[in-house]
Order: sequence, then C-alpha cells, then structure tokens
Amino acid sequence: MAVENASGRALRVGIAGLGTVGVGVVRLLEENRDILLQHCPWPIEVTAVSARDRRKNRDVDLSKYDWVDDPVALASHPKVDVVVEVIGGSSGPAKLLIEKAIANKRHVVTANKALLAEHGTVLARSAEKAGLALAYEAAVAGGIPIIKSMREGLAANRIEHVYGILNGTCNYILTQMRETGREFADVLAEAQKLGYAEADPSFDVDGIDAAHKLSILTSVAFGVAVNFDGVRISGIRNVSAADIAYADELGYRIKLLGIGRKSPHGIEQRVHACMVPAASTIAKVDGVYNAVVTNGNFVGENMAIGRGAGRGPTASAIVADLMDIARGRILPAFSAPAETLEPARQAPVGLHAGSYYLRLMVVDKPGVIADIAGVMRDESVSMEAMIQRARSPGEAVPIVLTTHETTEAAIGRVVARLANVNSILEPAHVLPIETLS
Ligand code: NDP
Ligand code: HSE
Repeated sequence: MAVENASGRALRVGIAGLGTVGVGVVRLLEENRDILLQHCPWPIEVTAVSARDRRKNRDVDLSKYDWVDDPVALASHPKVDVVVEVIGGSSGPAKLLIEKAIANKRHVVTANKALLAEHGTVLARSAEKAGLALAYEAAVAGGIPIIKSMREGLAANRIEHVYGILNGTCNYILTQMRETGREFADVLAEAQKLGYAEADPSFDVDGIDAAHKLSILTSVAFGVAVNFDGVRISGIRNVSAADIAYADELGYRIKLLGIGRKSPHGIEQRVHACMVPAASTIAKVDGVYNAVVTNGNFVGENMAIGRGAGRGPTASAIVADLMDIARGRILPAFSAPAETLEPARQAPVGLHAGSYYLRLMVVDKPGVIADIAGVMRDESVSMEAMIQRARSPGEAVPIVLTTHETTEAAIGRVVARLANVNSILEPAHVLPIETLS
C-alpha cells in the first residue's frame, strides 16, 4: 500500500528488531537505493524502528527514523505501511505485532519461521481477508528465493516432493566433521565461536529449525495447511565421526535433510540426518550453504543453492518482499488461498519405505553375525552390504550393515530386537539412506 508523501509515492517501512537481520535491512535499503529505484515504481523508506535497547551501538545511523520502544506500536504507527518483523520467537511481541499489524491494515514481512510454522495458516487467513501481504521469503533458506520460485515460477506444476539442506549450522558441522575427522561436540563448539550456531544451539542441531522451514515448504508445495506437529524430527547430535567415515567408505555423505513427499499413504514430512549418494549434487553442498530441490510433474527437478543465513542474504530476501509489495504484487502467503488450505492426510511414519545404514558395536565372538542375520531374516529385512573390521581379542568392534528397501517399522523392530542380543554392546546407530528420486 504505497501512499503519497512529500517525496512522491513511497512505501513506508517500520522495522521491529535491529539485530543481525534488522540492521541488514536498514543497510541494504540505504546502500542499494539506486538499484531499488530502478526496479520499483517508488521508494521504499524506513520511517520507524524498534528494538529492546535504544542505546546499543548498531553500526548504522538510526537517528533519522522514529524510535518506538514497544515494537507492537509499529502496528499503529501513522507513518508505517509495512511492518518488518525481525524479532523472532513463535509467541510474545513478534506474534502480537503481526496480529495487530494485520488488524490495523499494515502489510507484514517477516523472517520468523518458528512463528509461521506454528501460526502461519491462521495469520495468512487474516492477512488475505484484509487484502494484505504476509511475506516471508527470508524465513526459508535465507537468501534462496525458494518461496517465490515455488509460488510463481513452478506454480503450474503438481509438486511431487520438496527436500533440502535447510539448516546452515548443521551443514557446517557435518562438513567440518567429514573434512577434519573431529567429533560433533568439538565442531559444535567451534561453530558457536564463529557465530554460526546459537549460544543455545538446540533449535539448529536437534532439527527444529529445519522442521519449521520444512513445514512451510510443504504447505506451499502441496497446498495444505502448515503442519509443524506432523514433522518427524531428529537432529545430528548422534552422528559420530565413525558414521561419517563409514559413509565415505560406502559411497555416501551424511546430510541433515528436510524432506516433504507425497506418498500413497499421505504426506510425509521428515527432518533427519541421512546418507545421500556421494555423487549427487546435494552431497556436494557443503559448509553453511543451503539447497532446496523440488520436483514438478511438468518441469522435472529443480535445485537452488545459496546462503541460508546471515545478514546479507536474509536482508536480500526481506527487501525483495518489500519490493513486491511496492509493486502491488500481493499473492496468497502459501500460494493457494489460505482459506482453502486443509490439514494434510499424514502418512504413518512406520510405512516409510527406504534403505537403512546400521552400525552395531559388538563383542566379536562366534555366532554374533548369525544372531544379527537371524533377527533381520525374522523381520524380512534384506542385507545389502556388511563391513566388519579386524579386532584385538575381547575388544568391541563395529559391524556396519546396509539394507535393501524395507519399511521404517521393520527397521524399528530389528533395532528393538538387536538390543536384546547379548554380544551387541550399545543401541544400534541407524541412518536412513536417501536415494532422492
Ligand atoms: P537477533 O537476535 O540478532 O536480533 C533480534 C532483535 O530483536 C534485536 O534487535 C533485539 O533487540 C530485538 N528484540 C528481541 N526481543 C525484543 C522485544 N521483546 N522487544 C523489542 N525488540 C526485541 O536476531 P536475528 O536478526 O538473527 O533474527 C531475527 C529473525 O530472523 C528471527 O526470527 C530469525 O529466526 C530470523 N532469521 C534469522 C537469520 C539469520 O541469519 N540471523 C536467517 C533467517 C531468519 P536488542 O538488539 O535491543 O536486544
Ligand atoms: N540457524 C539457522 C541456520 C539460521 O543455521 O540455518 C537461518 O535460518
């Protein structure tokens, strides 16, 4: 909703949150003003800002903007047409601000995947009813314009699956573990020092952040209500240097993937560490990079790779959303109108079909392989390959197995029964193998 002002027509922006992302947005709008003016019919002007601490040095001149102590007040600020919410959190001031902004007929741009994963459908309904934008490109895979791509360029397709590397912190940790042979805890500490992982890194390393993003992608891809609770989530804490070395030996890489897929049983949403073929493109997406792959019934496979986080990429996505609003391009948040988004039929987890990697720590004594093979035979799980290393007498040795295609339920039963085999010393380490077709 651009309005007349002294400098002509301008889209007036209030920014709530002046941390990594908020300051990036202020800077981009200043530094790339000429570029924006080339592409947009009228200027995008910051008019008001808010954060907790007014005195904090943010390395950017904020003196020309109205300072608002309570971020929620931006929702009724007379010089604000669009609220940019970059505070974070699925409740509290971020949620209140967005609800009030919509009630007060302000467009909303946010990077807040946690909030959208939990309340996205309801917020989208209110925004669309009021003819307002709820734009969130920055919330999923940072600088990769995946929402725009799915909602516009790929919109004519029936999407069969969407998957990707959706968390840069995990990808950095797994890459470092592979390149240096170090263990998870050691690399996590380094990632925290470098500022990639949060001080409380659990949202990242336990897969929750990736699950937030996946639930949003799944909604856009399949035209269903956002269903974060329907995502099966595990993270990377249990991936060891040994698993990474075995993956290499078997021709795989370990990645934390978010996978949304239509199956005959419903929609699957899974976030977990898994093995992907070393020769696949996604296996080569390393470090803090994100990647998103979609498969449409006419277009085929598409893959986008880019920076999933950080000041620049996130600000780039937010300002692109602002430009869309300034151009009058206001589309339904999740592609299909929010009022048509129904809860998805969720595929039962146990029916997921695929191959698996198992690492077992055993006492190497006669009959142990037969015990393992017997359990697998009883559960009709077929072994594809096995690696056993030499041992010193009495030492625990790893036995690594890969299976042919089976179901998650069958692997669960195998793992439960192996736990009762005396010569197996610890719970099996299990990773799905994703062939990604
Ligand atoms: P930061 O922690 O760097 O910044 C948060 C900002 O919000 C700070 O300026 C803080 O104020 C302000 N704030 C926090 N609580 C309140 C409150 N109660 N009232 C008013 N202001 C408050 O976060 P980021 O910039 O990293 O992230 C912001 C959002 O963007 C989150 O939703 C995040 O998930 C998302 N995001 C972040 C990415 C990134 O790379 N950082 C990438 C993609 C999405 P003060 O500075 O005064 O403490
Ligand atoms: N913590 C997130 C990541 C930031 O590591 O990818 C961007 O969402």
